[in-house]
Amino acid sequence: MPLLEFNNVGFGYKTGGRIVDNISFSVEKGELVAIIGASGCGKSTLFRLITRLEANYDGSIEVNGEPIEKSGAIAAFMPQKDLLLPWRNILKNVALPLETLKMPKQERISRAKNALSRVGLSGCEEKKPSELSGGMRQRASFARTLMTAELGRELLLLDEPFSALDSITRTQMQDWLLKQVRSLDKTVMLITHDIDEALLLAGRVIVLCDKPASIARQADSSMIKSREHLFTPQAIQLKEELTQLLSADAVLREADTEVTENAR
Ligand SMILES: Nc1ncnc2c1ncn2[C@@H]1O[C@H](COP(=O)(O)OP(=O)(O)OP(=O)(O)O)[C@@H](O)[C@H]1O
Ligand SMILES: [Mg+2]
Repeated sequence: MPLLEFNNVGFGYKTGGRIVDNISFSVEKGELVAIIGASGCGKSTLFRLITRLEANYDGSIEVNGEPIEKSGAIAAFMPQKDLLLPWRNILKNVALPLETLKMPKQERISRAKNALSRVGLSGCEEKKPSELSGGMRQRASFARTLMTAELGRELLLLDEPFSALDSITRTQMQDWLLKQVRSLDKTVMLITHDIDEALLLAGRVIVLCDKPASIARQADSSMIKSREHLFTPQAIQLKEELTQLLSADAVLREADTEVTENAR
């Protein structure tokens, strides 16, 4: 039985039209699935449905075969913006979810220190977010997500974890994440704009297209296990196919914007 299953899910925010339509996919325990798609197509919205920040969708979303509304919280969520509070030091930022759970202070501190050491940030406990580099902030944010995952949440939702980084730091962080994820016994969904990143990190890539967003393709990328594999003929071919799907979608979007603007 899959950990998560979307069946013909459709959704729109109260303020606007339909954002996603007819979305069906499932995620098995232990999988790492990437979601790619043009900006604004509805990727983060899928995470908002999984974390139940949004309800009132059509179709069904099931967790371990039960409606999501009946299951406890399953997801540890790393949002697109790091949401570190500027006035709190890194230790207190990472410990925040434990505070809301009213965990005793000693245990909170020990768990948060542990999570920081896992992401290579021991020694930065007292620093404020503004004193860290972009990569360090992303790692602190990941540490906070990791800690929530260790409280029993099976699914890690990572929304563009490296989008704010330059390409060298990004490459280092991807390698780092790959190691972390392989050492964790978790299921991961990763949103990214970067096809290489999706192919490298994930075993399967879901491509979202069109407005409202629906699934254009689900591609197996499990044969790409390291950066060198990105240059095999098979990987290059897959990358070309995915790039074409995304650029066809971008052309449609541009045309759509022009039509809307001309109509004004
Ligand atoms: N809370 C909200 N209320 C109303 N509309 C929203 C809300 N969040 C997102 N939207 C709209 O829903 C659409 C999809 O947004 P979403 O954030 O899911 O896109 P995305 O694919 O994650 O984009 P990006 O790659 O830029 O992060 C956009 O048109 C956006 O304006
Ligand atoms: Mg988004």
